[in-house]
Amino acid sequence: MSAHRHMNILGTMENLPNRAWVKMAIREIHADFQRSAETHMVRMRLPATPQICLYLKDESTHPSGSLKHRLARSLFLYGLCNGWIRNETTIIEASSGSTAVSEAYFARLLGLPFIAVMPHSTSQEKIKLIEFYGGRCHFVDNPSQIRAASAELAQQIGGHFMDQFTFAERATDWRGNNNIAESLFRQLELEPDCNPVWVVVGAGTGGTSATLGRFIRYHGRDTKLCVVDPDHSVFFDCYRAGKPGAKATPGTLAQSSRIEGIGRPVVEPSFIPEIIDAMIQVPDRWSVAAMLFLEEWLGRRVGPSTGTNLIGSLELVHQMRQRSETGSVVTLICDSGDRYGHTFYNDEWRRAHGLNSKTELDQLRQFVHSGIGSPGCETCQRDQAIMS
Ligand SMILES: Cc1ncc(COP(=O)(O)O)c(C=O)c1O
Repeated sequence: MSAHRHMNILGTMENLPNRAWVKMAIREIHADFQRSAETHMVRMRLPATPQICLYLKDESTHPSGSLKHRLARSLFLYGLCNGWIRNETTIIEASSGSTAVSEAYFARLLGLPFIAVMPHSTSQEKIKLIEFYGGRCHFVDNPSQIRAASAELAQQIGGHFMDQFTFAERATDWRGNNNIAESLFRQLELEPDCNPVWVVVGAGTGGTSATLGRFIRYHGRDTKLCVVDPDHSVFFDCYRAGKPGAKATPGTLAQSSRIEGIGRPVVEPSFIPEIIDAMIQVPDRWSVAAMLFLEEWLGRRVGPSTGTNLIGSLELVHQMRQRSETGSVVTLICDSGDRYGHTFYNDEWRRAHGLNSKTELDQLRQFVHSGIGSPGCETCQRDQAIMS
């Protein structure tokens, strides 16, 4: 669509009475979806484990570059259909990452101002991407205050706080409607093992795992859902403790997760442990090693949370092999590594953050190519969790 025609539509939309504007805005989002292709499913044959196939659904190929493209679309439709977003509403989100980039994309599509509230530590690449889509970055000193600051800013300027952590599980249609689960299972239909044994994802808001877990149950599938958790996050401990609502004991998490996009200092409202069949705690050094391994394997860069996904998947492959199980395991490429050039793909930065993972990378190569060793991460299966 030419910029001029787009501006014409935006021009036209601006003067429309609100209901007509909302109608046009929803149509714009549907049209954008219609113009976009589904994300690819990459097959990864494991030389040492031919009886188990690994698949990576590549969410980095979305127009706004990550799995958050789906959530941003759902949050805009949810806000429009609830009457919370009108033709002059400023959109505000508490996010230093992928969600802000994707929401800035949709805000531009609708001609709305967008403000991302984020900590000063946000990567230059992500700030540039948000600004590329016409968004503005609003920095706060204390990372744990970004949500409160977003709500306050929305109050002050009469904007709408999208609040991904609260609404991620509500805004996404988990029954189908082209959600990530429906597309994932459809893309496996012609594969030898079209019903994967495991689907493996990380959790930031918890929205992706909630959508997958609900879809699997709603459609009566036997596939199990495994959620991986990085260092400095409470999800794994709370899942194992079986107390889903437990807040992190003050002082236990002196640091928030380093693996951008996943891991949280508190259990978020969209994280639904009841539909998770297992969780795996993945040390950050292994996530980084897996991220670097995938650069060798795929010939392009992925983000660190994809590394966390790969380790969890290989841990399950290892356990399946030990039980002589066959089948397939599916996980996600969440975003591209191009967003982490100054951080995770920088040797000095990795060394400075104690994330130089040469040993783990060697071990990973050996595991994938010759089946020796395994990541050996702590796994907690549903039936092991002490459900209160
Ligand atoms: C790069 C990346 N990976 C994974 C996730 C986890 O997704 P969710 O928020 O749906 O749990 C996020 C979330 O922000 C992310 O940005």
